[in-house]
Amino acid sequence: MDTSRKILRAYDGSTVTFKALRAYGWNELLNLGYFQLRDLAMLLFGLGYFQKQLVRQSIKLVAPQPGENIVDVGCGYGWTSNQIANSGAQVIGIDLLEKHIEKARQKFGHNPNVTYAVGDATQMLSSATQAALEEESLDKIHCLEAAFHFGHNGRRAFLAEAFSLLKRGGRLVLVDFMWRSNCPEEINELDGERHVRRTWQFEQFEPLADYRTIARECGFQEKQIIDWSPRVINPFQKICNIITLLGQYRIPRFFLSMIRPGVFSMNSQEWRLLAEVLEAHERVSGSTYYVAMVLEKP
Ligand SMILES: C[S@@+](CC[C@H](N)C(=O)[O-])C[C@H]1O[C@@H](n2cnc3c(N)ncnc32)[C@H](O)[C@@H]1O
Repeated sequence: MDTSRKILRAYDGSTVTFKALRAYGWNELLNLGYFQLRDLAMLLFGLGYFQKQLVRQSIKLVAPQPGENIVDVGCGYGWTSNQIANSGAQVIGIDLLEKHIEKARQKFGHNPNVTYAVGDATQMLSSATQAALEEESLDKIHCLEAAFHFGHNGRRAFLAEAFSLLKRGGRLVLVDFMWRSNCPEEINELDGERHVRRTWQFEQFEPLADYRTIARECGFQEKQIIDWSPRVINPFQKICNIITLLGQYRIPRFFLSMIRPGVFSMNSQEWRLLAEVLEAHERVSGSTYYVAMVLEKP
């Protein structure tokens, strides 16, 4: 199966996890979200608010300026690229999936500062992208929660290409799941049934230490490494656990569906499967960091 067909399976609504997340507000974005206690009441409106908060935190690190050339890699439905373009920068959103790019163009194609292109982040300089990108042409590259899909060799290729594409002084903001220890194959034991890996279509998370080494070998200087796990993975997992627990029983499920009517589309068997899948996510997330890396080309 080719890579894009494989990745599409994570986002086409065929998994119970994605179905539940869509019911709970994953409409414009496809990331876990950034959670702060003071925003807890916003949960009544679903997860979309928190996803936008994560984008805002990530864009702060990009610090886009008017006139800059910026690529948003793994742009999903295009919300983030459009948001960066609103700063006056010229933005290209790139995603492997045609469906995502079509949706992005429909929603944000009217913004003269942003264009969208189908392309593979691991081959941005070759013809594998519809956008004609040239060496040393970009001020910044942003990649939010997409690189875990690329595989180890793909991540290395992406970092090397990002380095070539950036101008001197250019910046790469890479936000990704990273393995805490140096043994990413530990996931085989924690996710024995492959629930997590099948849901999100990836093999292993890159160990944080390896990410840093690869970035250094490509020539990048590390500017910031921020552990967002306590604001992203940990609360996301807890919230999903609570929703799934409520979804198991008829009466709480009825009340849940009053706030999120999409919840009705899941039957009892799917809720039980979701609970099993979430248990695997909980085991894996205990060994995973959610990290924002700011790298600069000297
Ligand atoms: C978890 S989603 C995040 C999307 C977006 N950044 C957001 O925050 O909503 C990951 C995205 O990466 C895209 N993707 C996966 N592999 C890719 C590749 N090799 N090149 C470009 N995009 C890729 C997927 O199609 C998906 O849209």
